[in-house]
Amino acid sequence: MTPAAAAPDLAYEALGEAFRIGGRIPIRNRVFAAPMCGASKLPYRRLARRHGADIAYTEMVKAYPLVRDDRKTKELLVTAPDEAPCGPQICGGDPDTMGRAAAVLEAMGFPLVDINMGCPVKRVVNEGAGAALLKDPAKIEAVVRACVQAATVPVTVKLRSGWSHQGHADAVTLVRAAEQGGAALVCIHGRVRSQHHEGDVDFDAIARAKQAVSIPIVANGGIESAEDALVMVRETGCDAVMIGRGAYGRPWLFRDVARALTGRPPLPPPGWEGICDVMEEHLEGMLDLLGVVGVRLYRKYASWYFRDLPWGAHFRDRAYRASEPEVMRALLRDWREHARACEAAAATGERPPVPAFLVGDPRAADPFPARPGDDDEDGTCE
Ligand SMILES: Cc1cc2nc3c(=O)[nH]c(=O)nc-3n(C[C@H](O)[C@H](O)[C@H](O)COP(=O)(O)O)c2cc1C
Repeated sequence: MTPAAAAPDLAYEALGEAFRIGGRIPIRNRVFAAPMCGASKLPYRRLARRHGADIAYTEMVKAYPLVRDDRKTKELLVTAPDEAPCGPQICGGDPDTMGRAAAVLEAMGFPLVDINMGCPVKRVVNEGAGAALLKDPAKIEAVVRACVQAATVPVTVKLRSGWSHQGHADAVTLVRAAEQGGAALVCIHGRVRSQHHEGDVDFDAIARAKQAVSIPIVANGGIESAEDALVMVRETGCDAVMIGRGAYGRPWLFRDVARALTGRPPLPPPGWEGICDVMEEHLEGMLDLLGVVGVRLYRKYASWYFRDLPWGAHFRDRAYRASEPEVMRALLRDWREHARACEAAAATGERPPVPAFLVGDPRAADPFPARPGDDDEDGTCE
């Protein structure tokens, strides 16, 4: 069962088209939801789409198991009509296998095929896939061409601004190779491979790449607010932006960015009632998708939402002990009550009350305990 749609303050409305991917897929809000291993599953993508992302990408799947009809790989690609258009992402370095994988994705009904050329993980790179392609523009072209020849849907590429800051092909060369192969759009994560997901984003590299090609360029890296998105567009001239971690526990960021990029005034941030509705919807979506296992995978999502209120870290600890749907549901009910109490206290200028389960517990003394590595459980994955 899926709870009612989000509260009205989370709604967005789209304007006219900005451009079409491959002449087919209309892009209106100019904001994409990034592929993220372990995170961008169907319930997350649905939320992203409903809050204004033009398109949401699946986590990457490897091309070889996909063409061998591997069940687990196909499970990662489960989609639903209400999230369309969904962008499936494949990873691999062998043009022939990638072409066959692209054909499989088209046969599965996806409206496009995205190719991962940015994964920095060693075991992926050692197979000549992911970011390894950044060292070989000719291979980029060959992989893209193989996919374009094997599928009639648009083929897009997500790559980084380079393998390293020196001595390898720059973003202009990489994007030109993708365009030459027939890519309909390239998303550039403005960091090189050694940076993984941290450090400065190279606006200049994205801007130069944008100037060098005629296909749409989507810019990615470090966008955490509508202002960041405006800076990205101003500094790079990109056609759209892609958001990854900035939307952790904040799907309404897509709405905020969409409004900023299409010249609409900002809306007030969502209230906690609306956020709690989203949290419940997210949990029920994970249960629908994965059954009881969905509880374990939901822990990480819950911890994102728990970040912003006092004692959220203690709710997070409870979430990490929950394995049964009913236990997680009860925890979310407690959280809603806590959020309401915090909101009421803020309105009268009082101190927020300690949540009932922490009354008398010495840990209650610290409402915001430091948690090393809070967000990087999957930090090695791209
Ligand atoms: C946990 C995690 C998993 C990721 N998985 C993928 C992936 O499967 N495919 C991909 O192209 N990028 C992946 N990325 C990279 C993101 O799509 C994005 O490029 C990166 O996080 C920078 O954007 P951000 O600063 O908005 O988060 C991943 C990033 C993170 C943090």
